[in-house]
Amino acid sequence: MTQSLADMRRDYTRDGLSEDQAPAEPFALFHQWFADALKTEQPPVEANAMTLATVDSDGRPHCRILLLKGLDEQGFTFFTNYDSAKGQQMAARPFAAMTFFWPTLERQVRIEGRVVKVTPQESDAYYQVRPLGSRLGAWASPQSRVIADRAELQELLKVTEARFSDSQPNCPEHWGGYRLLPERIEFWQGRSSRLHDRLNYRLQAERWGRERLAP
Ligand SMILES: Cc1cc2nc3c(=O)[nH]c(=O)nc-3n(C[C@H](O)[C@H](O)[C@H](O)COP(=O)(O)O)c2cc1C
Repeated sequence: MTQSLADMRRDYTRDGLSEDQAPAEPFALFHQWFADALKTEQPPVEANAMTLATVDSDGRPHCRILLLKGLDEQGFTFFTNYDSAKGQQMAARPFAAMTFFWPTLERQVRIEGRVVKVTPQESDAYYQVRPLGSRLGAWASPQSRVIADRAELQELLKVTEARFSDSQPNCPEHWGGYRLLPERIEFWQGRSSRLHDRLNYRLQAERWGRERLAP
């Protein structure tokens, strides 16, 4: 029997998030929560999967799942096709938001800020550690374009394989990373009766401030 959507709910009782356990700056807390997610979330949940939202030049939002592939003191890095729909949106409007959801931990993290392309060297370094199939796929697939059928994609892959039959594929110019430079990072811990904890870090004049938001 299909469960009624109106009756689908969980009460969140696993944990809390208080000001005194949260560090003064958000990266340390993200690292801590990410380590918890790697330990706790079971496949098929990928701890580094997140929803990336971008806006197009008409101000319309678009979102899709991507994998986080890097995190340093500057920001959060992911890789994609620069000519894809999202690539064109970020070229027109260089801002993005990402949301992580770790259901076992009853946690959500929301990150917002400006996006910049990483250097070609950084894209190449990541490209080279990808499996051969993914490296060829980056050349073969005109991501986000309309194609006739699956056979067209297979054909594009065949052409790419022939092109690189005697050499290793290099990182295409149309493929690489973006880094989201966060201006806001919100940590959400589910609590009972929808009275959740929300700690919101905001970057102002190069310093992180923190505030609690109502759930
Ligand atoms: C679990 C998962 C991980 C994904 N990871 C990536 C990724 O790292 N990079 C990427 O370009 N697309 C990734 N995708 C595919 C995107 O969701 C999306 O279909 C693709 O990037 C095209 O988006 P666009 O047309 O809005 O540009 C992933 C999809 C799923 C479900």
